[in-house]
Amino acid sequence: MSNATTERRYVVRSATSVAGELTVPGDKSISHRALMLGGIAEGQTSISGFLASEDCLATLAGLRALGVFIERPQESEVRVHGVGRSGLKGAARPLDMGNAGTAIRLLTGLLAGQRFDSTLIGDDSLMRRPMERVTTPLSAMGARIDTDGGRPPVRIHGGAALHGIDYALPMASAQVKSALLLAALYAKGTTSVTEPAPTRDHTERMLHGFGVQIASEAGRVSLAGGQRLYGCEIDVPGDFSSAAFFIVAGCLAARQGLTIRNVGVNPTRTGLLQLLQLMGADIELAPHPGEAPEPVADIHVRASTLRGIRVPEALVALAIDEFPVFFIAAAGAEGETVVTGAAELRIKESDRLAVMASGLATLGIECELLADGLRIKGGAMRGGRIDSHGDHRIAMAFTVASLIASEPIEINNVANVATSFPGFPRLARAAGLALED
Ligand code: S3P
Repeated sequence: MSNATTERRYVVRSATSVAGELTVPGDKSISHRALMLGGIAEGQTSISGFLASEDCLATLAGLRALGVFIERPQESEVRVHGVGRSGLKGAARPLDMGNAGTAIRLLTGLLAGQRFDSTLIGDDSLMRRPMERVTTPLSAMGARIDTDGGRPPVRIHGGAALHGIDYALPMASAQVKSALLLAALYAKGTTSVTEPAPTRDHTERMLHGFGVQIASEAGRVSLAGGQRLYGCEIDVPGDFSSAAFFIVAGCLAARQGLTIRNVGVNPTRTGLLQLLQLMGADIELAPHPGEAPEPVADIHVRASTLRGIRVPEALVALAIDEFPVFFIAAAGAEGETVVTGAAELRIKESDRLAVMASGLATLGIECELLADGLRIKGGAMRGGRIDSHGDHRIAMAFTVASLIASEPIEINNVANVATSFPGFPRLARAAGLALED
């Protein structure tokens, strides 16, 4: 079992402006999926713009352990030599997914229909995360999976004959939807998944690109089992969730403007833009030509006065990973911001509602922790020492807070920033943040 080192920290002095142009690393969700689908495709899949972060490298190592030959001619160039849908081989040891929730949940789906046994584990945070959300519907498909009271280790027994199901997701989760679609490839008959609210649809778009017939309409996606995948080329756009830190930084302090180039702007990911625009943000998108399979744009942001809002619950799933930094925008806004319907934030890499509430209170921001959200009163922010709880997005969000804080912010336990955003400190400094790591 891996454990993140706890001693790494950031000290961020207050800065008053950000500016310039930057490019963020590749999309994490798309990079995980490209490796997995490439692994079970026939022929070669070439991935450019791959996110070489700890999370995606855990997926890459997992697929190698399952017998897939993968080359990396460059840091962000990957060639996956697919073994076909029946070509994976049992791994000699448990597959360690580190901090990566997407990897463990999607691989549980992919491995549920194989002939061999598999065990999936992760770091301390991942070992605490709920897995029954995937094991319950997978069991209904005929899979045989054991967990430790609903948590990893996930022990998948091979040789189960899967059959399609018609499943209504009890929560809005792209990881669960994707795990079921991957298992569905190995199931007899058709699997349909209905979502209570739209979630990221990268799996559906990518399956289509690999030649799989998949039908989506009105919140319901269906796939017939037994289909073959064919290797293809995948160009991974910049990760919107990484761009989000600079989008908020720009809204707070880019008086001359800040541009983030080549960002994935799939509408199932960009709820943050709508939230910030409701607050009065000045954000413009310059779309790149050609939509398929994922829309891409340059994002221009300019500082403006933000006003507190009541977050429409319909936008929560579309901004799910952006709430830590959105709460910093709320702290820098005039008036009150209220988020509800966001209980899922309690079971991410950390309890993001509790950890953000405690960090904001440390910095002097009035904030009320709700069962499923937060109420934040914008106001003057002081400096202080923040416990990130080893959560990458909490660490990066409080780095952005230095644009509105009067004194330095010290953030502990930041090693996990490398799970999603290698090079963050360098880019943050290039944009104008006074970060020492
Ligand atoms: C992800 C889905 C979301 C998100 C996570 C990545 C994915 O998780 O929070 O960072 O790649 O499918 P949930 O499905 O748990 O909401």
